[in-house]
Amino acid sequence: MKISIIGSGYVGLTTGICLAELGHEIIFMDNNKEKIEVLKKLEIPIYEPGLKELLIKNKDRIKFVFDIKEAVSDVIFLCLPTPPNNNGEADINSIIQVSIELAKIIKNKKTIVVKSTVPVGTCEKIKQIFGNRANVVSNPEFLREGYAVYDFMNPDRIVIGVGNDEAKRIMKNVYEKLKEKIIFMDIKSAEMTKYAANAFLALKISFINEIANLCEKTGANIKNVKVGIGSDNRIGMSFLNAGIGWGGSCFPKDTLALIKIGEKNGVEMKIVKAAIDVNIKQREMFSKKILNYYKDKAKIAILGLAFKPNTDDMRDAPSIDIINFLLSRNFEIKAYDPKALKNAKQIFGEKIYYASDIYDALKDSDGLVLLTEWDEFKNIDWNIARKIMNKKIIFDGRNFLKPPKDFEYYGIGLPKE
Ligand code: UGA
Repeated sequence: MKISIIGSGYVGLTTGICLAELGHEIIFMDNNKEKIEVLKKLEIPIYEPGLKELLIKNKDRIKFVFDIKEAVSDVIFLCLPTPPNNNGEADINSIIQVSIELAKIIKNKKTIVVKSTVPVGTCEKIKQIFGNRANVVSNPEFLREGYAVYDFMNPDRIVIGVGNDEAKRIMKNVYEKLKEKIIFMDIKSAEMTKYAANAFLALKISFINEIANLCEKTGANIKNVKVGIGSDNRIGMSFLNAGIGWGGSCFPKDTLALIKIGEKNGVEMKIVKAAIDVNIKQREMFSKKILNYYKDKAKIAILGLAFKPNTDDMRDAPSIDIINFLLSRNFEIKAYDPKALKNAKQIFGEKIYYASDIYDALKDSDGLVLLTEWDEFKNIDWNIARKIMNKKIIFDGRNFLKPPKDFEYYGIGLPKE
C-alpha cells in the first residue's frame, strides 16, 4: 500500500520506516525543511537503535517531501506532536491545522490514522473537518524509545479504534503481517487506552518507589520485594525497578493530560496525581540524600543523563532536577553519558563539566552518582576507579552497580550494609 506519514519525529519515523519494512511504500512529510534534507541523505536526526539500518535497507520504498500536497495517499498517518499547553492539557493545534490543510487538498476518500497521543474526542473533531471524505482511525502507539523498532515489529498489541467496517478492512491491510496482534475497538476507547496504559505504568513505578522508601527505613530490601510481588502473574515483574523515577517525553506529559481530561469531565484522577507527586519527591529525596552525606559542596561524577538508557532524550530527565539541586548547593559536577551529552549541553550550558568517558568523570571526584543505567556502566573497572577517585562513595539512583566491598554504596530501598 501507499502510506503517508505527516510528522517525521520519533513516532512518525519509526512507524513509517517499520511500515516500509513490512512492504509498504512510504511518503514522509515534515514542515521542518532542514529535517527533510537530513533524512533525504539517509541520516536519522534522533538516536534510535536499528532505525537507520532499516531506513537504508528500505530506501527504495521511502520518499521524503516538504510540501504536504506531495504527501497525499489513500492512508495518511498523523504523527504530529501534542505537547502540553500552559495548563497541562495536550495541545492538538498542529493536528487540527494539518487536518484543515489536508481537507482542502484531498480529492477522493482517505483514511486518516491518528497516531499522536490525543485527548478522548479528538478523532471526532478531526472527523468533523473531513466530513464524509475520510475515515478517521485512532491507532495509539506503545513504542518505547530505545526499543522502538523491536516494539513495532514485536508488539504485545496493536490497538485500533474504528468507526466502520471499511476502515477496519483498510487497517487490516496496513498491519497485514502483524494482524494477530490487532485489537479493534471504538475510537474513544482507543484514545483512552493510550493514556490509561502510560498512567498505569507510571503509577506502577511510583508505587514501587514508595515501597522502596519504606524498605529503606525498615531494613527490607526492595530488590527482594520486587521478586516477591512481581512473581505473582497478576502483578508481573516489569516496571517494578525502584530508583529516581520516571521522566521522558511521555509519562510526564500524558499523566498530566489525563488529570486535565478528568477535570474537564468532573472526575478527579486521584491515583494519577499521587503518582506524579511521588515521582517528583523521589528526585528530591535522592538529591537530599547526597547533600546530607556531604553536608557541604563536593565534586561529583554523574554517570548517565538521559531519562533512560539507549536514548539521547533528556526531556524531563530526573538528572535535570538532581543536577540543578546539587548545583544550587555549590556542588561541582562532572557528567558523562554515552549519547545525551549534546542535548545536556543545551540544558546546563557551562554550568557543568562534560566528561569524555567514565574515567574522565570519575577522576578526582568525591563520589559517583549513577542516574541512568546504561549497559556500559556495568563494566566500570573498579581498580581504575579506586585509584582515580578522591573518595570511594557511590550513590546509585537505579540500583544498578555492583561495586567491590571497599566502596561505600547507597542505592534506593536497600538495607544498610
Ligand atoms: C513509554 C511507554 O513505555 C511506551 O509504551 C509509550 O509508547 C511511550 O511512553 C509513549 O507514550 O510514547 P518511554 O517513555 O520510551 O515509553 O520509556 P519507558 O521505557 O516506559 O520508561 C519511562 C521512564 O520510567 C524512564 O524514565 C525509566 O527510567 C522509568 N522506569 C521504567 C523506572 O523508573 N522503573 C522501571 O521499572 C521502568
